[in-house]
Amino acid sequence: MSKPIEQIREEALAELSQAGDADAIRALWVKYLGRKGEVTGFLRNISELPKDQRPAAGKRANEVKKELESTFNESLERLAGQTGQYSEAIDVSLPGRPAPLGTLHPITRITRLISRVFARMGFGIAEGPEVESDYYNFEALNIPKNHPARDMQDTFYVSDNVVLRTHTSPIQVRYMEAHDPPIRIIAPGKVYRCDSDLTHTPMFHQVEGLLVDENVSFGDLKGVLTAFVHQVFDIQTSLRFRPSFFPFTEPSAEVDIQCVICRGSGCKVCSHTGWLEVLGCGMVHPVVFENVGYDTNRYSGFAFGMGVERIAMLKYGINDIRMFFENDIRFLRQF
Ligand code: PHE
Repeated sequence: MSKPIEQIREEALAELSQAGDADAIRALWVKYLGRKGEVTGFLRNISELPKDQRPAAGKRANEVKKELESTFNESLERLAGQTGQYSEAIDVSLPGRPAPLGTLHPITRITRLISRVFARMGFGIAEGPEVESDYYNFEALNIPKNHPARDMQDTFYVSDNVVLRTHTSPIQVRYMEAHDPPIRIIAPGKVYRCDSDLTHTPMFHQVEGLLVDENVSFGDLKGVLTAFVHQVFDIQTSLRFRPSFFPFTEPSAEVDIQCVICRGSGCKVCSHTGWLEVLGCGMVHPVVFENVGYDTNRYSGFAFGMGVERIAMLKYGINDIRMFFENDIRFLRQF
């Protein structure tokens, strides 16, 4: 039989008191408690003792084993505390794991881009309800009940006189009712039409614009929208104002921009015309001014409305509008 267990214990504790660093303590652990360690060896050899001594020796050896384990551990922890290392398992100098960040939805990005461009020209932002009365969505905008112009917009009716707004133009009326000229606002928001295919979704986004003052001319409208197109696309993009009709503007126009894909030579995106329609606009119709109590002899103004999805599709080269609303993370991550 090897050394008595009390001697092993005393030697172990004596050596521990001399151990200066964690490596030394770990070496003691191996020397005494490891697979070939002295305490382990003592326990293994207990069968060599006289039978009547075995139970007491085994009990005592296990006590010593536990005592040494906890004393070694305490020393290791004390040492780690002194050197500022809290635990072997945590390396506090490692950089943290980055939390995955989302991105802004492309429609949000384009809405903000459009708002920024108009903000630089002095336009403020106005908002209005998405569930709108027939009066603000249609009648105040010179679209009477049973007027054929209502067919232009396939409306979701909530009840007889309440609709999901089909455009952001009702915000013009609400804003003019509440404010006197001069007025310079844009109004971004969701609009709803009973329509669904490759280029139409039942809900989409528009940005409305309205400027009212004395002596506002069609030239001002052209200037503002030209500056807008040049900033959102680029300065080389040409525009054309094509005569059109809206009940709430007179004269009215649709603005086409030179195709951003083929630069005007003709391609699939522009149906080989070289032009892309981007917005509707015109001089505010006198009937609309009368409806909000403005003096039509004194004030004139212009309004415009554009689809945000359409601008985003052209800017990012997206050919299916439904991509915006499917929430496919592989699509959204690209912005
Ligand atoms: N509200 C029109 C539409 O949704 C766009 C428009 C706005 C046209 C303002 C002229 C003036 O189609």
